[in-house]
Amino acid sequence: MRILGIETSCDETGIGVVEDGRRVLSNVIGSQVELHARYGGVVPEVASRQHILAAVPILGQALEQAGTALEQIEAVAVTMGPGLAGSLLVGLNFAKGLAFGLGLPLVGVNHLEGHIYAAWLGEGPDPAQEPGFPLLCLITSGGHTDLVLMQGHGQYALLGRTRDDAAGEAFDKAARVLGLSFPGGPEIQRVAQGVQATEKLPRAWLQDSLDFSFSGVKTALLHRAQARGLYPARPGETVTPDPAAVAGLAASFQESVVEVMVTKAVEAAQRHRCRGILLGGGVAANALLRQQMKKHSPVPVLIPRPILCTDNGAMIAACAYYRFQQGERHTIDLDIYPSLRLG
Ligand code: KG4
Ligand code: ZN
Repeated sequence: MRILGIETSCDETGIGVVEDGRRVLSNVIGSQVELHARYGGVVPEVASRQHILAAVPILGQALEQAGTALEQIEAVAVTMGPGLAGSLLVGLNFAKGLAFGLGLPLVGVNHLEGHIYAAWLGEGPDPAQEPGFPLLCLITSGGHTDLVLMQGHGQYALLGRTRDDAAGEAFDKAARVLGLSFPGGPEIQRVAQGVQATEKLPRAWLQDSLDFSFSGVKTALLHRAQARGLYPARPGETVTPDPAAVAGLAASFQESVVEVMVTKAVEAAQRHRCRGILLGGGVAANALLRQQMKKHSPVPVLIPRPILCTDNGAMIAACAYYRFQQGERHTIDLDIYPSLRLG
């Protein structure tokens, strides 16, 4: 079964074609990063408008790369939330036009569940069989840092979430303090590559809780950057570029955020006797996180390829396949849910 997946919850116009929930026939991503970089973050109005401009050409590329005509598509899947309202509306209306124009079923997908199903895409064994449920899922992105217990397809319980910034948001803000460009996660990873952490930045363990908090480490980083003259302590104060100090602080920040996520995910997996740990979301592309999770987890670790960790249409199509098997269909009345949660 070939499903077309459409993802427009933030600043990526992602459209992909997936066969039987596992085989990626195409996955085209129109990134808006250059449009937003000059503002240091995503500007919602700019994002919605760009989705409108990008949707039709990206659909054409996705079908061409998949070697699939529109007539061979059997269902249309679209992100219905969470995300930016205007961006979600563009994708949802585009999907409705396609689905109802072609007489195809429409499946609305929770973006967070899509990040989980990115782990089903690829050549490896089916995670539901190997290692099998329950799975401990860490969804870590620009908007979320959630620990979710997945007991079966479509069955979730939320175990913990961030109380303030999401990990990706913290990476983006830390990068800005260090004078690095947006999005900050890949930049921090790049400058910290092969560099020793120079500081022990705080870790918020929040005793007995599986929640996260990243605002403390972010503030600590700001103070260290100011003390080293890398960021103005007062408005108008000049700063002196010091790439070695930036790299050391970036490595320290990355180490702190990764250590907390790995420790809490492993603890949650043990508490709930999980058979595997599954990572998803943009921050799951982080090389240190991937390496440390594999090193410390007592159970198999499933992580999508980096390109499938960040927002894309293929993961939405993969998730919709399993939802569709369970009988899920949406009508023309489907709305967006900007604050949708999982579990
Ligand atoms: O999942 P995603 O593409 O969009 C949301 O749903 O939020 O995640 C984007 C986030 C950004 O905050 C970005 O800085 C972060 O993922 N990110 C990374 C890396 N690649 C992307 N963070 C750390 N290391 C990376 N390599
Ligand atoms: Zn995402």
